[in-house]
Amino acid sequence: MAGILDYDTVNLDDEKTALKIIDQTLLPTRTVILELTDIKDIWDAIYLLKVRGAPAIGVAAAIGMYVVSSRYDTDDNDEFLKRFVKDKEYLNSSRPTAVNLSWALNRMERVLKENKDLELPELKKVLREESLAILNEDMDMCRRIGENALTLLKKGDGLLTHCNAGQLATSKYGTATSAMYLGHERGYGFKIYCDETRPLLQGARLTSYELSSAGMDVTVLCDNMSGALMREGRINAVLVGCDRVAANGDVANKIGTSVVATVAKRYGVPFYVCAPSSTIDPNVKSGRDIVIEQRPDNEVTEMWYKERMAPENVKVYNPAFDITDNELITAIITERGILRAPYNFSNL
Ligand code: MRU
Repeated sequence: MAGILDYDTVNLDDEKTALKIIDQTLLPTRTVILELTDIKDIWDAIYLLKVRGAPAIGVAAAIGMYVVSSRYDTDDNDEFLKRFVKDKEYLNSSRPTAVNLSWALNRMERVLKENKDLELPELKKVLREESLAILNEDMDMCRRIGENALTLLKKGDGLLTHCNAGQLATSKYGTATSAMYLGHERGYGFKIYCDETRPLLQGARLTSYELSSAGMDVTVLCDNMSGALMREGRINAVLVGCDRVAANGDVANKIGTSVVATVAKRYGVPFYVCAPSSTIDPNVKSGRDIVIEQRPDNEVTEMWYKERMAPENVKVYNPAFDITDNELITAIITERGILRAPYNFSNL
């Protein structure tokens, strides 16, 4: 029987010209593959976190734009371009924090504009190829991040991660988990600790699922337990992914990341952010300029409980991400190398 790692997180079903994703809201209990062709369904899938994680959102949006635009019933190039730009803007509104979404959509628009005078069937082929290039490059970037991260780790290390920056958040390997997969293949014998990651439990539901499926030694902990673990000296490094890196090295990642980074600093545990270059946003000066997504109240009060766990009408604070200040970060690990403060992303 196929395990979770045998499925593509996101891909193109070429025969049906459909975006194919695993519905991550149902994991780990059910593995349901969705085939999407409609722009509204793709928007919903991203907003509702059926496909999630910064790189995977970018890949899904790129393939989604190819799938949707291949169905435009027009033979006029200007009309095609107009509809493409409108749909692209719509998809871009599905989630604000991960820069990979706009990065991938802008790349699709750029290639479309560069080839706008081609016959439409040819133009559609170019869009297909670009979306698959984004997917394949993501796999390659993740693998290289893992190779770079592995140079900072030792056999038998205890590694803590937050949220899911794994295969389920990318095309393969993950970012924060890439060195874990590579190290596992090479007999490093890591002990992996996954924060459950309230409120949507990406750590408990997704990271622990994919890593344990690969046969790793995995332990899940509640978000308020990592300090105790670090104090006991059981964590040698923290590895997290990220949704956007600002020019000064501040990083947006899943809510709670900044708390883990602060505690890691207190106990002298290196805190590594794993980021493909598609997650670096030189247009944003610092974390203050990153838009943090606010999510619905019910994710906190009801979603994972048999009955509501907060009084009716109580106010809810539910940001999806937070900013980790650059001084809390030991290094940012990209596919092109390991970067340390003061950051200079201009030659990446
Ligand atoms: O809300 P999510 O599940 O999309 O948040 C995901 C994260 O915060 C990940 O850590 C981040 O996107 C990096 S994924 C390689």
